[in-house]
Amino acid sequence: MISEQKENIEQKKVLFSAIQPSGILTIGNYLGALSNFKELQSDYKSIFSLADLHTLTVKQEPSVLRKNTYELAALYIACGINPEESVLFVQSHVPAHAELCWILNTISYPGELSRMTQFKDKSSKHEDNINMGLMDYPVLMAADILLYQTELVPIGADQKQHLELSRDLAIRFNNRYGETFKIPDGYISGTAARVMSLAEPSKKMSKSDSNLNAFISMDDDKDTIIRKFKRAVTDSDNKIICSPDKPGISNLLTIYSAVTGLSVEQAEKEFDGKQYSDFKLRVGEAVADTVEPIRTEKNRILSDKDYLDSVLSEGAQRASALAYKTLNKVYRKVGLLQRKRG
Ligand code: TYM
Repeated sequence: MISEQKENIEQKKVLFSAIQPSGILTIGNYLGALSNFKELQSDYKSIFSLADLHTLTVKQEPSVLRKNTYELAALYIACGINPEESVLFVQSHVPAHAELCWILNTISYPGELSRMTQFKDKSSKHEDNINMGLMDYPVLMAADILLYQTELVPIGADQKQHLELSRDLAIRFNNRYGETFKIPDGYISGTAARVMSLAEPSKKMSKSDSNLNAFISMDDDKDTIIRKFKRAVTDSDNKIICSPDKPGISNLLTIYSAVTGLSVEQAEKEFDGKQYSDFKLRVGEAVADTVEPIRTEKNRILSDKDYLDSVLSEGAQRASALAYKTLNKVYRKVGLLQRKRG
């Protein structure tokens, strides 16, 4: 019976995703990614990573990066990731990620990497630090995914282009060296796949925005959340409907629908004939109701560093065992000499 259960787990498809510990997450990260991780984790053999190597592509304060890494580990668990069921680990603890990245670099072209939207965006935002890592970011991301023979990658819409590159690299490698990698599919959830800035609804909500009113952080308290929604940019008329010419209202309706579980149409009905001020207050309250219990739980988990260290250490061991199976196969395929033990 037990071995039958084990076999069932083994037969589950692999799901992989990662988040950068580059700051306190926003409700964009939560609604676009983390909340889906929780929904999907039991149906897959789920592996979640803290992509600390990726954060180094923009300047980080070392002590802040360390603190953010613990924060993110605690947040994953507070959002419902069960470290006994899923694998939760820090990317840099499994060197196979950097090792596979090197191999994939040898089949990646500068032309395709310099065309990536995120590379262009980040290069213009960090003109003083356009480094090789920034350009190589999607190749490391491909290594993350392909190491685990991943079939499903839940991500927000902004990562779609990177996922496509991962697929291209897997196909390119398989064509050149023979069947090695599974080809991963993206899972981009409908409504909240792209949560927009509260200050400039044509831009995605981002944790690195210098305008603190543009995003709701998962660390904001109820008053702050309500104040930020009160200030959110809306549109000139008073209609509360989702429409391409009403990006501000559409974004708030989308957020409301994601946190309440209502459809956008149901939300539109609820606010039919209401004032913008009432609407914004209600959205703020609903978001605070979602964020507050997570924040409290995250802070509780964060106060137990020994527990977090043990989760991450165990996660790294489990991830390594899987990752090196693939990496050894890759090394063999490309002709690297297998190391003789003893
Ligand atoms: P990061 O940390 O920038 O974002 C983490 C996840 O949050 C999603 N996201 C959003 N979703 C909806 N609306 C938004 N405004 C919003 N902002 C961010 C992102 O799409 C992402 O899913 N490169 C990845 C990290 C990574 C990764 C991987 C992901 C590294 N290796 C392998 C999947 C598989 C990133 O963007 O992280």
